[in-house]
Amino acid sequence: MCYAIPGKVVEISNKIVTIEYFNEKKKARNDFFELLPNDYVFAQGGFVIQKVPEKEAISIIQTWKDLFFRLQEKDQILTLKKDNIYELANSIRKEHLGNSCCVHGIIEFSNYCIRNCLYCGLRKDNNKIKRYRMSLEQIIKLSEYASNVLGFKAIVLQSGEDLWYTDEKLLKLVEEIHKKCSIFLILSIGERDINLFKKLYKAGARGILLRFETGNENLYSNLKEGQELKKRINLLRELREIGYLIFTGFLIGLPNQTFEDIISDIHLTNKLGAEMFSFGPFIPHPETPLKYIPRPSLKLILTVIAKARILYPESKILVTTALETLDKKNGAYLGLKSGANSLMINITPQKYRKMYEIYPQRADVELSAKNKINKVINLLQSLGRAPIDLGLNLKQKA
Ligand code: 5AD
Ligand code: SF4
Repeated sequence: MCYAIPGKVVEISNKIVTIEYFNEKKKARNDFFELLPNDYVFAQGGFVIQKVPEKEAISIIQTWKDLFFRLQEKDQILTLKKDNIYELANSIRKEHLGNSCCVHGIIEFSNYCIRNCLYCGLRKDNNKIKRYRMSLEQIIKLSEYASNVLGFKAIVLQSGEDLWYTDEKLLKLVEEIHKKCSIFLILSIGERDINLFKKLYKAGARGILLRFETGNENLYSNLKEGQELKKRINLLRELREIGYLIFTGFLIGLPNQTFEDIISDIHLTNKLGAEMFSFGPFIPHPETPLKYIPRPSLKLILTVIAKARILYPESKILVTTALETLDKKNGAYLGLKSGANSLMINITPQKYRKMYEIYPQRADVELSAKNKINKVINLLQSLGRAPIDLGLNLKQKA
């Protein structure tokens, strides 16, 4: 099963192409390919990532067509009730974005970090965790496997802020992956020099995952030991100007954070032009100064998802692993039923996953990527959702 449906190019206007899927038109940006009307393409996150031979495209579309409409019908039935804010948010999601659900893969390639965030198990002063780094070759091979064998169309490469990966190494990594894989590549490598991000964009990276963590300046500088919120926000703005799609958001349940803080964080996420809202619960780690802070309730997280959906109906909202950790059995299901419409699957080699301990007992350390894919597909089908990204709506700017 793949994570994008080919669409037919029906119009080309410079870098913006209009693509038709099952009679619906969407726009996408084409930076990498020579395209003509009637060509078939995969688009992801609003970018064309691969040209697909006509025969192959028609066969994939044929396989999907019936299932897609059946799933749509199921989604329709499951969103009839609007008796509480979760149901209301879910029906708003359906009205505005339909039943497609982005499923991205994530590779956590290093757990070294030069920072000392009070909330995070990877903080530099935590000498109880075993550190690891994947070599460039390992990361490239794994990306190829994720793209060419598992069928992912979007992959996040994530690490702590680890300067072992020099500018040259990161550039080589992105260039190689761009050459070898037809994927939408998202980087989550913390705060690096803006010139490096410009070069990485040129090399083929198109998304940045960087949370602002909290929009409350005092909380931010206390939790991130003297770092400035303004600097982070400026960086996010500059990254967007370069052309990156921004995946950003905040933590819920930080000490001294109020509900008003959280609501203004939803607005800030939108103001930053986030392609994807990524917010989730803070989960205390025993080897950090915040070990005694209690976890936030599941209800609070679901309420924030629902609020974000109601305030910003067109947004993509991620079910985070931290939410899945808060309720291992139903976290993802409940998140998707409260307005969320995106998921990530961990494809980090299993021997490293336990070591990427941002917080303890993470939900996704045990299941292999293949088993998790099956679990996600079953979950999505039970909810009438399709594991595909149909590009940007015509209403949205490309
Ligand atoms: N609980 C939940 N999320 C955390 N992160 C860091 N520490 C924790 C924690 N204890 C999140 C931060 C960071 C991302 C990589 O992990 O939001 O941006
Ligand atoms: Fe490092 Fe990010 Fe953890 Fe802070 S939150 S310690 S920057 S990995």
